[in-house]
Amino acid sequence: MKIDGKTKVCGILARPVEHSMSPLLQNLFAEKTGVNLTYVPFKVEETDLEAAVKGALSLNIHGLNVTVPHKQQVMNYLDEIDKTAEEIGAVNTLVRTEQGFKGYNTDVPGLLRAVTKAGMVIKDRSCILIGAGGAAKAAAYMMAKEGAAVIYLLNRSIEKAEKLALYLNKLFGKNLIKPLALSDYQSIPKGRYFAVQSTSVGMYPFTNQAPIEDPEFYQLIEEAIDIIYNPVKTKFMEYVEASGGRAVNGLNMLLYQGVISYELWNPGFQVGSDAIYEARLLIEKKLSEEKASSDYLILTGFMGAGKTSVGLKFSEKHNIPMIDTDKLIEEQAGMTISEMFAVLGESAFREMETQCLKELLEEKKKRGRMILSVGGGLPLIEENRELLKKLGTVIYLKVSPDTVLDRLKGDLTRPLLQGGSGRERIEALLAYREPLYEAAAHEVISVDGKDFSQIIQDIEIVLEKGGEG
Ligand code: S3P
Repeated sequence: MKIDGKTKVCGILARPVEHSMSPLLQNLFAEKTGVNLTYVPFKVEETDLEAAVKGALSLNIHGLNVTVPHKQQVMNYLDEIDKTAEEIGAVNTLVRTEQGFKGYNTDVPGLLRAVTKAGMVIKDRSCILIGAGGAAKAAAYMMAKEGAAVIYLLNRSIEKAEKLALYLNKLFGKNLIKPLALSDYQSIPKGRYFAVQSTSVGMYPFTNQAPIEDPEFYQLIEEAIDIIYNPVKTKFMEYVEASGGRAVNGLNMLLYQGVISYELWNPGFQVGSDAIYEARLLIEKKLSEEKASSDYLILTGFMGAGKTSVGLKFSEKHNIPMIDTDKLIEEQAGMTISEMFAVLGESAFREMETQCLKELLEEKKKRGRMILSVGGGLPLIEENRELLKKLGTVIYLKVSPDTVLDRLKGDLTRPLLQGGSGRERIEALLAYREPLYEAAAHEVISVDGKDFSQIIQDIEIVLEKGGEG
């Protein structure tokens, strides 16, 4: 797209803004509708929001999206606010008028359009809403407007659910929303409900969680929308489907709120279904690229399986940095693993392993792609197995006792292999550990009799497949 003196400038105010999908969407819509418009990300701190809105006006910025954490605060700096946005108390779109910016909320109509598109009807329907945050407010408002018969509002904090219910029940002049603590879901009368999942539970990388883990609960749900779009199918959606219900994710909501914003900025232009389809593909591609670029390759297995050596070779070949949890812990503790076992004991070392994984998970997005070689005992702890799967693709390098004996004879650095008969010790440890290594892994590669290049090739095949089965 050519930028010239007539290009209209739009953008998004957020913090952080780097992961926003809106620039991708809006620039595609501009291209597809043939409008000379460009859309850019603006990272704005909360303390700078007023100056940013004023500055945008002065700079003749054509339109803006506003997102976390500015959706409420921005309302103080607007010339006019649309009724829906006013009632919800959140603005996500600023449209330029003669006097200043007018604030709208396109999340509400975006959600409605996604629900309608999925063939789901809300009128006279009994509904369940999970969550009581900003997205829940938009969802509850939408359902109330559409004529829901009743809305059971489940939230971890009952106080927050009560507050939201009180506000909306007053606004709509009826006792429509019934607040419940999340754990009280069993008190919802039997029936087949329409449900909205509006919390962030189950969002990547914590994909093996759902707000309610009891399959019984999902018997209540006939149709549902989960506002999460990464992963494409959340655990919540899986539960709904497993109990015979139908569920869609939040990708269409994301697309339609963007379409509605775009059409507010550009009256007379409509984003066609082909543009929306292309936008969906673009987002899906970006999500899978992000996943591939931030996912770790994790090598697990018994002492002597070659985790570190294979990892280093792979690291060299593909120019991906490598971390070794044993080394990281030795550096942090300022002593060797043998010293740690002797001075602090094995359980202190195991705690450090868990802590180490937690820190790595927190830094995952910042660090980008990594190879991680983990100590042989790390996957034995259930919490660690879960953390590993969140970090990336886990490959278990499987080795026989003979190979271990052969490789580690004379090794004094592994406290667990010192003293007694090596073979018996290794066999006993392996018998206990093998099922746990397998439980922790996405894929198993047998390394006996293979050289590095063969093992690396096996790993490459796993990664090409996507690694997660
Ligand atoms: C251990 C394996 C070692 C090290 C520690 C405990 C184990 O790592 O973490 O000695 O319990 O199997 P390597 O598998 O890298 O040797």
